[in-house]
Amino acid sequence: MLALEPIGYIRTGKHLKFAALHQPEEAAPESHVLEMQPGRGYQDGLRDLDGFSRIWLIWWFHKNTSWRPMVLPPRGPAVRRGVFATRSPHRPNPLGITPVQLRRIDGLLLHLGPCDLIDGTPIFDIKPYIPAYDSFPSEPAGWIDSLDAALAAPPPFVVSLSPLAQAQADWLQSHWEIDFQPRLAQLLGRDPSPHRTRRIKRAADGLLSIGCGAWRAHFAVLGSAVQVLFLEPGFPLRFLHRPGREAVPDLAAQLAFLERWPAAAPLPPSSPQMVEENPREAT
Ligand SMILES: C[S@@+](CC[C@H](N)C(=O)[O-])C[C@H]1O[C@@H](n2cnc3c(N)ncnc32)[C@H](O)[C@@H]1O
Repeated sequence: MLALEPIGYIRTGKHLKFAALHQPEEAAPESHVLEMQPGRGYQDGLRDLDGFSRIWLIWWFHKNTSWRPMVLPPRGPAVRRGVFATRSPHRPNPLGITPVQLRRIDGLLLHLGPCDLIDGTPIFDIKPYIPAYDSFPSEPAGWIDSLDAALAAPPPFVVSLSPLAQAQADWLQSHWEIDFQPRLAQLLGRDPSPHRTRRIKRAADGLLSIGCGAWRAHFAVLGSAVQVLFLEPGFPLRFLHRPGREAVPDLAAQLAFLERWPAAAPLPPSSPQMVEENPREAT
């Protein structure tokens, strides 16, 4: 039996896994704060760290309860990989590692750059990032190398929003500060075909939809054009109204959305040929 105690918790403002990046993006305009636990002597433990511009965070995928020996990575073609050849959160010991920019230390608060952790993630350890020890950029990286080469090409699909979807996205942003449009465009621009990890599925009416955290976006594909037709809450009204649903993410926004658009779903597109399988994989 091993007992580990978090040294702190990160505050990122990202409450849903969907909102977190797969790995930190250097250019993302983000700043986050790691709050170290008080009363443990960590202030001394942080001495001399301010000379490092980057640190490793070692952390717990605390929202995951299961693991699988083979996983379906979210990027690229739908090919299962051995979990130890991936950075999947679904691991026997769900430990994550992330190198983040260290911008400032303010007592027990560490001000950090972009990261891929959701709000409240427990942090087990910090280590300085040391380029001479930690960086081997010319080493082969297996299946990731071919994937990255393919993803370096421009996204093969052009994503647009219908007037209704645009109005809904604008309303979510202006009334609730909920904005999943950039991530939606990124995912659908790469590959809008059905995929379990990307939470893309085909409905009985032939339309496709993608889970975006607490929301779903319904879309159609025509050649290399993806049109998002409408958005809707991820949960039906009868579910949201049941007692004990307070922890549902974006609950108040979902209820307000359903008042504003009680029947968000427009009629399915009249021409069935509007919707077709993705003719090519993202790679
Ligand atoms: C692909 S993993 C990579 C994590 C780490 N950089 C690594 O390589 O070990 C990043 C994803 O984990 C998910 N995630 C972030 N924080 C989490 C948490 N506390 N519990 C479960 N999943 C989390 C988010 O969906 C995020 O996009």
